[in-house]
Amino acid sequence: QTYYEKTDAILSEFPPEEKSLIPIIQEIQEAFTYVPPEILGYVAGKIGISEAKAYSVASFYENFSFEPKGKYVIRVCDGTACHVRKSTPILEALQSTLGLSKRKHTTDDLLFTVETVSCLGACGLAPAITINGEVHSKMTPEKMMDLLEGLKG
Ligand code: FES
Repeated sequence: QTYYEKTDAILSEFPPEEKSLIPIIQEIQEAFTYVPPEILGYVAGKIGISEAKAYSVASFYENFSFEPKGKYVIRVCDGTACHVRKSTPILEALQSTLGLSKRKHTTDDLLFTVETVSCLGACGLAPAITINGEVHSKMTPEKMMDLLEGLKG
């Protein structure tokens, strides 16, 4: 199935109107792990709104991603508890090792995505990170680099 065939299958579950945009995009992100921009334009056309409008609505939601993510998604908590226990050096170590930055979140080989998050609900274990949703607590830059090496295999 191509992207477009899958998208058509998703579209067929919803009435072709503006209200359907968010639930459709949610399903698209689930199916493709991100929202390919050309698919967003395609969906916009099918429900009768402009691509610009679809993008402005969708980009309001932080959990939609418009670029592909890496096999391993690492989220570094930058909430208050983690921040005061030095989450920033962990983030910086990851970014400099992987050649990433505030604007570039995913490695070109699509192995790693590094993002920040405002609280993982594990403040007692700060600083905390997640790798594909699994929490790792009391992190240090050194521990982080060991984990990274393990993932690189
Ligand atoms: Fe980091 Fe809550 S602030 S887990």
